[in-house]
Amino acid sequence: MKVVTTVKELRRKFGKVIFPPVGLVPTMGALHEGHLSLVLSAIRECETVIVSIYVNPEQFNDKEDLKNYPRNTEKDLEMLQGVLRGNDLVFIPSDKEIYPEKDTRIFNFGNLDKVMEALHRPGHFNGVAKVVSRLFELTNPDISYFGIKDFQQVAVVKALVKQCGFNIRISAKPVIRETDGLAMSSRNQLLEPGIRDQAPVIYHTLRKVSSMMKEKDIPDIKIFVRNNIEKHKDFEIEYFEIVDDVELIPVNRKDEMGNDRRYYGCIAVKAGKIRLIDNIEIELS
Ligand code: PAF
Repeated sequence: MKVVTTVKELRRKFGKVIFPPVGLVPTMGALHEGHLSLVLSAIRECETVIVSIYVNPEQFNDKEDLKNYPRNTEKDLEMLQGVLRGNDLVFIPSDKEIYPEKDTRIFNFGNLDKVMEALHRPGHFNGVAKVVSRLFELTNPDISYFGIKDFQQVAVVKALVKQCGFNIRISAKPVIRETDGLAMSSRNQLLEPGIRDQAPVIYHTLRKVSSMMKEKDIPDIKIFVRNNIEKHKDFEIEYFEIVDDVELIPVNRKDEMGNDRRYYGCIAVKAGKIRLIDNIEIELS
């Protein structure tokens, strides 16, 4: 694999060694098995794989969160070295390379940017759209890979591709979990040990939701979710919503759910100081 840090080098490499199809895996580093599974999918499907590592300040609405975001480029490169091929690239740009000038673009994603994460992290998806569109322009991939753990981000990126007319397929891959069920996330390493031990309650609660849907309606389920998670000291729900996978409109009653859509239970929990998100597809029958 080759490591490049500037747009100039990236373009120089493109001129010589890029074979299509090109797969892009955008990341913010602190790589884990979830990222690795995206990279492995890209390797299976693409002749050239580009993994970008860039902690994008534009998508952090909280300065402390940006400051504390885990960074370990050396370990990331070791991990990638084990799987990437000679032809593949790791792109580790600086802020100046991604934003040579102030990026003042304002995107409009309609409802996608008005619910759940958007309410709790104002400006987050606008920042994601800025960096992802820039990475798409720079690397011009055929396929780009994202984890469905960031369910709303996947919907926003698909909308971005449509709006900007990128000829890129977005490949959304399943949540990869620790053996106890906790969804893998770079932020997991920031959890205090006592809190980490209890964090699988999030996934176990989501699984229960899926089975409860047969007998109970959504208001009762929401009460269950809150009680089951908040019975753990230091755990606080930011939101739990059941939404469709197209417009992400929260449903309040089961009879609002149509047969032509898929539905997901999406949750954000403050576990101590760390914010965790997860989701599960709701089986209706
Ligand atoms: O999911 C992430 O890690 C980030 O939001 C992304 C897509 C790399 C953009 O910074």
